[in-house]
Formats: sequence, C-alpha cells, structure tokens
Amino acid sequence: MNSNTLRLPLPDDFHIHLRQDAGLAGYAQDAASQFGRVLVMPNILPPVTDPQQLMEYQRQIEAAAPGLQALMTFKLNAKYSSHDLVALKAAGAVAGKYYPAGVTTNSQDGIGDFESVLPVVAEMERLGLVLCLHGEEPGAFCLDREKEFLKHVHALVAKFPRLKIVLEHLSTRDAVEAVQALPATVSATITVHHLLFTLDDLIGDGLMPHHFCKPLLKRPEDRDALRMAAFSGNPKFFLGTDSAPHLRGKKECPCGAAGVYSAPVAIPLLVQIFEEANALDKLADYVAGFGADFYGIPRTSRELVLERSEWFVPMEVHGVVPLAAGKTLGWTIKV
Ligand code: NCD
Ligand code: ZN
Repeated sequence: MNSNTLRLPLPDDFHIHLRQDAGLAGYAQDAASQFGRVLVMPNILPPVTDPQQLMEYQRQIEAAAPGLQALMTFKLNAKYSSHDLVALKAAGAVAGKYYPAGVTTNSQDGIGDFESVLPVVAEMERLGLVLCLHGEEPGAFCLDREKEFLKHVHALVAKFPRLKIVLEHLSTRDAVEAVQALPATVSATITVHHLLFTLDDLIGDGLMPHHFCKPLLKRPEDRDALRMAAFSGNPKFFLGTDSAPHLRGKKECPCGAAGVYSAPVAIPLLVQIFEEANALDKLADYVAGFGADFYGIPRTSRELVLERSEWFVPMEVHGVVPLAAGKTLGWTIKV
C-alpha cells in the first residue's frame, strides 16, 4: 500500500435502514457502494415480523443491489411463540430488534413493558438469535434516555448469560463504559455521525435538521468516549451506521423525522476520522472484522479500494440530504 491508496476488507454495516417501496432500490444501491453485507433494520411499514415477509424483503434488497448481502432482522414484540422464532430463524433472520415504544421512527408498536418480552428473549437465547437493542428509555428526558435504559441491559445479561446482545448506536460515555464492563456476550455499534458530531452540530448554532437522529447527539466528552472506543481495537465495538434516509421534505418541516443518511459517504468519512486520529490501523477490524466475529459469520474475502483524491458529496441523493452534503472529502472509493 502506498499512502495514496487504501485497501480495506469490504465493510459490513451492522445497522442500516433501507425502507420499503419506492425508496428501497436507491437506498440499497447506495449501501452497496460502501458495503458487502448489511444488517437490515425491520422498522419498515408494515414491520418485518413474519418469515415470508422477511424473505421477500431480503429478495427485494438483493435484487435491487446485486452484490449486497442483506442480513435480516425482525421486530421484537411479546407475541412471538417459540414456533414463530424457529420459523424466522429458518427464513434467515439473524437478530431480533427491540424498540421501546415510541422512542424513534416507526416504533409506536414497540415494547411498552420490558417484562412482557422476556419469555420471547429467553427463546431467542435458546435459538442463538442475537438481540439488538435500541437502548433509550421512553419518557426519560431526551439526553438521559440512553443512560436510563442501561438498567435493562444489566437485567438482560443477568437473566440470559448466553444471549448475544448488541447495544445499538451508542451515544454516551455511560453506555461505552457499561459495554466495556459487561461480559463478552455484549457488544455495541457506533455510527459515523456520533463519532463526528456533538449536540452543537445539531442546535449549537443554526438548527441542522439533517443532523437530527435518535439517539440524539450528545456532549463532547461523550463523543470523545465513543472515539476512544472505536479506535481502541476492543472487539466489542464495531460499525453500524444507523443510516436512516428520510426525504428532504420530511426533515425540513415543523416536526422533522429523526435519522441521518450516512450510507452514501460512510467509508470515506470513517477513513478521514480514523486517519486524523492516527488510528487507520484499527479501521479494518472496526468496519469489517469485529462485527462479523460477534455475529459468528465469516470475515469477508472481498476488498474495497480507496484513493486519496477529492470527492464532492452531492447536496441530495435519491431525494435525501446525505451526511456531509456539499462538503469535499479527502478519499474516494475506486469503482
Ligand atoms: C431511525 C429511522 O429513521 O428508522 N432513526 C434514527 O434517528 N436513528 C430509527 C432508529 O434507529 O432509531
Ligand atoms: Zn436505526
């Protein structure tokens, strides 16, 4: 490798939203420009809850973006029987996603009562299905929602010692420290935007609706802790972009939707972030190693090549304003 070319194992994104219907093909193709495999979140309308629908959604994604492998999730609720979970696993589900009721996009049908879902979680542990957590406590003050959810993570670990748990899109130092201290069955994803930004980038100056996401961006010391975790080489921390496209009009309006569209720019931005921190040697495991290891799938044998050349990020991609829109990045993906 010379310093103007960077060869990475083709990255995996262990948390992405690809939506349904008209937007799906473009969003899947944007993901395929950066990733070989993506863990697809189930909060589409209607949500992914049954095996036929899960397989059909996977088929649509992979047909729209040849070369992209969709790893599938279902939306957790208290109603699944053991038979339902066996069928979801047989259909290809690798994880179930826990959304607390009302905390984010399309989560009105999420879990209101933590205890109610425990029998289903017990069955997931038995079947080896991963539990992905949107770790925010409904009703808590917005900046404290993640911290206040951590008690549930501790309870889950105590009850289900063999259950693999991913605390998604970490946003606080408290959550980083909790994941570090918990057993190896608990890992976490970190997004690109939580490595880049703090609350100042959302509301510190003008209101920046395209930086509005759940969980909210937090304080500088939180971002520092997230960066240290990502650069540390600790296998508990790996990439999940939480790329979440909403059409421009759904963001620039009186009650804007939460979600940052990072898929089109994720890897060049991460290269920049890791390079600036002198941590480029930690990037390959972060984007294409630790996540696969945790999920128990083989590491990729494919490659992504970037070159050091300026890339102007478009103002809009498929009707959505992407992360870093209008900025010039220092790395370009070679196609
Ligand atoms: C996500 C979405 O739009 O689906 N939004 C977000 O702000 N991250 C849902 C989620 O992961 O919370
Ligand atoms: Zn998400």
